[in-house]
Amino acid sequence: MIKFLNIYQNDKNLIGEMKKGIAKIIRNNNFILGEEVKNFENNFKNFTGTKYVVGCANGTDAIFLALKSLDKKSGEVILPAMTYISTVYSVINAGFKPVLVDIEENSPLIDLKKLKNKITNKTIAIIPVHLYGSVVNTKNIKKLIKGKNIKIIDDCSQAHGAKLGKKNVGNIADISTFSFYPGKNLGAYGDAGAITTNNKKIYTRLKLLRNLGSDKNKYLHKIIGNNSRLDTIQACILNLKLKLLNKLNKKRVILAQVYRKEIKNKKIRHLHYSNNSVYHQFVITISQREKLIKYLNKFNIPTGIHYPKAIHQHQSIKKFFIGKRFRNSEKLSKNCLSLPIDPYLKKNQIKKISKIINSF
Ligand SMILES: Cc1ncc(COP(=O)(O)O)c(C=O)c1O
Repeated sequence: MIKFLNIYQNDKNLIGEMKKGIAKIIRNNNFILGEEVKNFENNFKNFTGTKYVVGCANGTDAIFLALKSLDKKSGEVILPAMTYISTVYSVINAGFKPVLVDIEENSPLIDLKKLKNKITNKTIAIIPVHLYGSVVNTKNIKKLIKGKNIKIIDDCSQAHGAKLGKKNVGNIADISTFSFYPGKNLGAYGDAGAITTNNKKIYTRLKLLRNLGSDKNKYLHKIIGNNSRLDTIQACILNLKLKLLNKLNKKRVILAQVYRKEIKNKKIRHLHYSNNSVYHQFVITISQREKLIKYLNKFNIPTGIHYPKAIHQHQSIKKFFIGKRFRNSEKLSKNCLSLPIDPYLKKNQIKKISKIINSF
């Protein structure tokens, strides 16, 4: 039986240590921003190579708080037209105008040539999204905005452990945001998130923003903030799971290579991924998507669609983008299909899935 996600299989050897860790939190009555949160912030700091890490409640808040940390009243924020809804919602909820840019042809990543044309004197931030675990060349975005007062906020929610050259994502942009939603490459057992930065001023502000504007003194509030603290029990889980991340990412890369080699069906197009991708999703494109899903269902092979609509096509926000077209994003959302790539899978299972796809 092939599952799309099998968190238990990946984590089962850690359950004993998790139980001990949670018992310790209960014993020490150390629930809110407890020791495990500090430990996780330190561990994630070492993992990403960044100076500062602020744990928070989820990846959506991470983007919202990162934007709020810029301390701007208004402005435009550039982001790709193909991403998870949270990226754009956080821009809108933080009070800024979202400006969408199309992705490249046959790639999940923002088109840097098109991005260049959207930069104005109102732009306050750019949010590249490392979609599916493929990495945007954020260094090239830095070149585009050299000398301008624009910050880059990397949305790394699908790219834990991915690299650009030698650097880990999380340590490239001005601020980087992560989700630890359970199905992510590094996932908690509930909602959790984090923000990384090398900027002390931003770090200090983020610590206040995630904790109702308060630092050490519990009932003294310096600025308006949110309750977006990283849960201590989730931090305990993440501390243990972080140790597995590099190994599980390597496994994803191996499985992706097998798919690339084995899937030969001419109806299917392989999507271009960057070097050092961590394959949060393995996405192919096919115009007969619904038919292929049904066909795979017959063999009990689960699939996913990430995502069925481009950002400007969502009912909730289409009023912001009337008359705008982002053809590569629309095409990807119409034709994308995510195949199982959970690291618990074996190479021969990927070969089996590929063989069935070839027979379609
Ligand atoms: C690209 C991207 N951004 C933001 C988020 C939001 O994270 P969360 O679900 O933890 O709020 C996700 C998670 O699903 C994501 O994939």
